Amino acid sequence: MQISKLTPEVVKDKIVAVRVDYNVPIVDGKVSENMRIVESLPTLNFLVEHGAKQIHIISHLGRPKGERKPEFTLKPVADELSALWDQDIEFRDDYTAGDGFIQMHENARFYPGEKKNQSDLVEEMKQMGAEIFVLDGFAVAHRAQASVIGLADHMPAYPGFLLEKEIQALTPYLSRDKIPGLTVIVSGLKMETKVPVLKHFATIAENILVGGGIANTLAVAEGYDVGKSFFEEAWVETAREVLEIADKHNTGVHLPVDVVCGESVDSTQSVTVPLEDVIGDMMILDIGPHTVASYAEILQHSKEIIWNGPLGAFENPVFANGSEAIAKLVANQQQAKTLLGGGDTLEVLKKFNIDKSEFSHVSTGGGAMLEFLEGKELPGIAILKEN
Ligand code: 3PG
Repeated sequence: MQISKLTPEVVKDKIVAVRVDYNVPIVDGKVSENMRIVESLPTLNFLVEHGAKQIHIISHLGRPKGERKPEFTLKPVADELSALWDQDIEFRDDYTAGDGFIQMHENARFYPGEKKNQSDLVEEMKQMGAEIFVLDGFAVAHRAQASVIGLADHMPAYPGFLLEKEIQALTPYLSRDKIPGLTVIVSGLKMETKVPVLKHFATIAENILVGGGIANTLAVAEGYDVGKSFFEEAWVETAREVLEIADKHNTGVHLPVDVVCGESVDSTQSVTVPLEDVIGDMMILDIGPHTVASYAEILQHSKEIIWNGPLGAFENPVFANGSEAIAKLVANQQQAKTLLGGGDTLEVLKKFNIDKSEFSHVSTGGGAMLEFLEGKELPGIAILKEN
């Protein structure tokens, strides 16, 4: 089913509720990474330019578990938005409507009903008086929560331009056919969130490069000893399945050939060894230089690259080389369409001063991007179709 478009006619003279995802890092009471805010401006500007009567901005921040915890207030976010957008914003503690043209409402997750999509919270949200709903928070579209799908169910609902842009950039990778020259880099700690994506790309990518904890679990599935490294015993069998699917579809799954080990993530010393030499109490915390070189070779011959997840414990400079090298390599592949996403992946760019403009598309989504790519229908998008 088609999603209706946000048009000037739809917006004119309307009270509009916009669900954005301003779940952004706050350091010392200030927004430290504002990409999600910047990316929402085209939609917000459109509402202003096309004569919306009043704009109500809704978001969550962090996971305050249904309680009003001051450290999760959206106030610093409202200040950042006001500065970036050069507009006055009336900050409201609840969902009652004030007089301001633009109003931002306090963290939706201060309400226990948000996560459970409870009707009493939706009723409270209706006090804003919104006549139309716009979902622009792609990053939260995978959550079936009151501010994402509950309110949307009560009025005409439209996608914002960021949501549309993300859908457009990611949809080609839902293909069931092999995509020639596609390399996917999947890294991170836990298998649970990455397995569906690994299984999907095991059928359509040409190469999958892995790192982090999931590489360790795959290594165990292939019979390697990973010493004291983090891996997930419960997922070893699934890791074998991923390798079998890849094998059947002629997709190369590449494990690190060498690794950087330490005693713990905080170690100041490290030793680099071939993967097969990891034993005893060695802990794998980064990919080694030979792995970087072999991954580089594949990336240089790729036509499309998708990257999610740092390759090691990059917060510690001792284990940051792999993530830095891969980030720079992906950024430098001018012959390839490059797409990346996920909070940790963005942290890598920030840490090594790599400009987002170096990539074809930087998704604002973390979990939402992964769930979209595995082919799930995201509830926030589904409700727009139903409307
Ligand atoms: C995100 O940052 O991925 C989204 O804002 C969703 O946050 P959540 O995982 O706490 O639901």
